[in-house]
Amino acid sequence: MSKTVLAIDTSCDDTAAAIVRGRRVLSNIVASQDQLHSQHGGVVPSLARLNHQQIIDEVIATAVTRAGINRAEIELIAVTKGPGLAIALEVGLETAWHLKEELGVEMVAINHMEGHLLSPFGQNRNGNASTISNDEGIGSQLGLLISGGHTQLVEVNGPGSYQVIGQTLDDACGEAFDKSARLLGLGYPGGPVLAKLAEQGRAEYQSEIYKSDTKYRTRITKPLHGYELSLPIPLAEQGTLDMSFSGLKTAFWQLVAKVLDDVDVSNHENYEQERKHGVEIGKQLRGALAVLFETTAVTAVVMKVDLALERGDYESILVGGGVANNNLLRKELRKLAHKYKTPVHFAYTKKLNRDNAAMIGLAASIYQHARTTEKPDRLPNWGIDDIG
Ligand code: KG4
Ligand code: ZN
Repeated sequence: MSKTVLAIDTSCDDTAAAIVRGRRVLSNIVASQDQLHSQHGGVVPSLARLNHQQIIDEVIATAVTRAGINRAEIELIAVTKGPGLAIALEVGLETAWHLKEELGVEMVAINHMEGHLLSPFGQNRNGNASTISNDEGIGSQLGLLISGGHTQLVEVNGPGSYQVIGQTLDDACGEAFDKSARLLGLGYPGGPVLAKLAEQGRAEYQSEIYKSDTKYRTRITKPLHGYELSLPIPLAEQGTLDMSFSGLKTAFWQLVAKVLDDVDVSNHENYEQERKHGVEIGKQLRGALAVLFETTAVTAVVMKVDLALERGDYESILVGGGVANNNLLRKELRKLAHKYKTPVHFAYTKKLNRDNAAMIGLAASIYQHARTTEKPDRLPNWGIDDIG
């Protein structure tokens, strides 16, 4: 009989608690602080901490109620210990420890990225909706972790045995989405908004991949107001699994500046000024630029997944993290799955890809982590390949 797990995650700017039993998610409550931080154009750690402290008890109580259980039924507490913002992680750890003492139950400390990796194993409360069968365990999978803080390819060799075989050398993919979205005046976090704009823009503007000299590039097939809109696909020619998004972000910046020759690209830090210019970009042009950026960023990732599948032998592909909600990425990964006859698994609901606590509970249910007998300290830079 599976244990009833209360899971808590306060790794960044979402206060999250969930109840999980085996692979079943009974509740998954996320109090987002997006609105709070959007005024500052990014996450302010001290504000995140304060907000976690103010609402965590209520979020936990709601998770218990929505699951239809009472607190006495909780048998195990799972809490995120890292990676993430140190002072934000502390709130979850502190709360979890007090609860463990109060309820007299065991506790495990979980790696947030392991949560993202195992999120496709989640099932709804009736025990279905996942594309992973009940008897498929962890072992011999290729993981793609793609969020606002991480972009990694992980080779899974069994529970707790994860090896990073490729990752971004600089910015994360989601971060590049957010920064480019902001340049287009789409707010924060703008990744999903940019993706939506691209989806709409694609009805009118198609993109294609081409080779110029030895470099792979993406372009919008029809010229727009006399501009040829194109971007280089980062590290596409390199036979490694390294990725990079910082150069793409700069190239996008320069392209937008060229299109709007009044934007001062030398002043990268001046977001507000750029945002103002960004909103002035015609809707039409923004749509085409969004298509171009999204296609380039997604292609950069998909090319590396392709390379990893060509080199390794995997039972399936697991995808997790906020950018796993990107529809173009999902479509392209499904094409790869077909090409290599290797199924690709996403979480049964998009909510499990954004930061949440159900994925932390799933990690605790699926893999028997060592029980924590002392109050754990946060590990802000904890790598997924350093578990156990
Ligand atoms: O996993 P997550 O919620 O938080 C982190 O651990 O970072 O991921 C958030 C990131 C943000 O950068 C957000 O813009 C991006 O995921 N994201 C998307 C989409 N939905 C969320 N990026 C592109 N397309 C989307 N549909
Ligand atoms: Zn995350």
